[in-house]
Amino acid sequence: MSGSHVDLQADRVAPPRPQPPLGLLAEVTHRCPLRCTYCSNPLQLDPKSVELDTETWKRVFSEAAELGVIHLHMSGGEPTARRDIVELMRHAAEVGLYTNLITSGIGVSDAQLDALIEAGCDHIQLSMQGADAAITEAVGGYRGGYDKKQAFADAVVARGVPLTLNAVIHRMNIHQVPAMIDKAVAFGAKRLEIAHTQYYGWALKNRAQLMPARADVDRTIDEVESARERLKGTLVIDAVFPDYYARYPKLCNGGWGTRTFSVTPSGKILPCHAAETITHLDFWNVRDRSLAETWYDGPAFNAYRGTGWMQEPCASCERKTVDYGGCRCQALALTGDAAATDPVCIKSPRHAELGALATMEAAVCDPGPAVYRGFRIGQETERR
Ligand code: SF4
Ligand code: FES
Repeated sequence: MSGSHVDLQADRVAPPRPQPPLGLLAEVTHRCPLRCTYCSNPLQLDPKSVELDTETWKRVFSEAAELGVIHLHMSGGEPTARRDIVELMRHAAEVGLYTNLITSGIGVSDAQLDALIEAGCDHIQLSMQGADAAITEAVGGYRGGYDKKQAFADAVVARGVPLTLNAVIHRMNIHQVPAMIDKAVAFGAKRLEIAHTQYYGWALKNRAQLMPARADVDRTIDEVESARERLKGTLVIDAVFPDYYARYPKLCNGGWGTRTFSVTPSGKILPCHAAETITHLDFWNVRDRSLAETWYDGPAFNAYRGTGWMQEPCASCERKTVDYGGCRCQALALTGDAAATDPVCIKSPRHAELGALATMEAAVCDPGPAVYRGFRIGQETERR
């Protein structure tokens, strides 16, 4: 009996201790002036009253640096909506983190930008909703947003801070991809991210309004390829194409609990930005736990780390250490089981259904108005 007990234990291969994380996405607030239809933040936003205070965020950044984090992405919501954003930026730079401010550019004055740069902001990522005022304002739900973004981009470039534009692509703006590439060059950006909408959080509500047609996606792939060639040495273009039309899933976030993690405005430590949608997981909070103990031992981090949790067809698949079964949040949203194979995968029993659903949604001529994000809990307004 004791022999079989020993054999059983020997059969269980303990997952290797993970490497330290490279990146932290710090969502310092959910407050935001924009109301984007594609917002991937959760349906239930954290109100200001539950946000971490200045000293706690500073401790989080110190712990991140000690843990081995290199890149800090300060995001939201709109991170500059916090009154202490300059103090937070200064502390992050002082503890040695490379700081990336992810902003809408709305409401950031020249004086605030100067203070952020003086405090040590290394890089700025500006969101782009369209290539002109009409589309920018229709997608972001903010009148005057386009001019403000243009002025902000000019101010960043004039101060010599590297600028990346992040354009979330969907049915409402996919025809503007070439114009957005031209705009990025005209703005003096160093990098452009063409990121097709991921259907988590709020974006899932608007999937029918956002889903592009396959032919339009194929065209943008060609447009991006030819622009990359033409703009070598001027603009780097990163592109993420919609996975509903793909054959294999993406390696989401570099793998669950492998490269990056997030802290929410109220302090929850998440393996990925959308992980709160997996409601059965136990998320530790920076108010009670250190980042290091959570990264290595947190139950939510270990739930889908490595390959031991996989079901078939992933468990015996030759690609299981390539894509780690795809996205857990998408698997849950589309199948009801976070441990299922991501239906984007051609080996998933749900794959054909997913492709048919995307094709059907994209084929509807008028999917009706999209629902705008609202900051107040439960607030929704329709796009006119
Ligand atoms: Fe990836 Fe699983 Fe599909 Fe294999 S079966 S390609 S591991 S998602
Ligand atoms: Fe959570 Fe992909 S967004 S695992």
